[in-house]
Amino acid sequence: MTPGLFITFEGIDGAGKSSHVDALAQAFRDAGRAVVLTREPGGTPLAEQLRALALNAPMDPLTEALLMFAARRDHLAQVIEPALARGEVVLCDRFTDATFAYQGAGRGFDAGVLGQLERWVQSVDAVPPGELRQPQLTLWFDVPPAVAAARLAGARAPDRFEAQPLAFFERVAGGYAQRAKADPGRFARIDADRPREEVRLQALGAVRARGWLA
Ligand code: TYD
Repeated sequence: MTPGLFITFEGIDGAGKSSHVDALAQAFRDAGRAVVLTREPGGTPLAEQLRALALNAPMDPLTEALLMFAARRDHLAQVIEPALARGEVVLCDRFTDATFAYQGAGRGFDAGVLGQLERWVQSVDAVPPGELRQPQLTLWFDVPPAVAAARLAGARAPDRFEAQPLAFFERVAGGYAQRAKADPGRFARIDADRPREEVRLQALGAVRARGWLA
């Protein structure tokens, strides 16, 4: 059986990643693969309820981090693991790197605690003990925070994260850079400060370079 593929999409708000998730899904479908398109926080009825709370209700950083990981655990158990077991391609708009970037670097929450939560939540039956479920590839849409802010301005009513000042997104961007540096084999940096078609080709190129699309 074809092995499953787990690919995540990351970047600060306004990086423009979401349309590229759809484009890549189409490319995999055209190649005959079954694709599950999903997102975090969210992806299951329970996790979508947790998303609505996390994005809108005021709370302290630990509560926020716990909600993100609670949603993630449900999403892994109900959607991601079953799809990977069926040999499908899982394309997930954000995953744990977002927690390290937003709750860790952005909010200043303890990275050691986040790492412990990551170990608990991403220990799953299908991976050997001591290893964690991690994406095989993370497409990191990197864009200067000021450019992202300009793209978001006036787009719609901002949620708790989108309403943050530029300095917050500078820290989040730094958090992503740190995660990428710690795991360069998993990350592909996409220069998202380019015309949309060029960004699409960069994302496609990163997947092709791994031999997953012709
Ligand atoms: P986003 O993925 O940007 O969706 P949309 O395009 O519909 O706004 O929104 C999710 C928000 O949640 C985003 O601001 C980042 C934040 N987030 C965290 O703070 N921590 C996390 O672990 C995840 C997955 C997301």
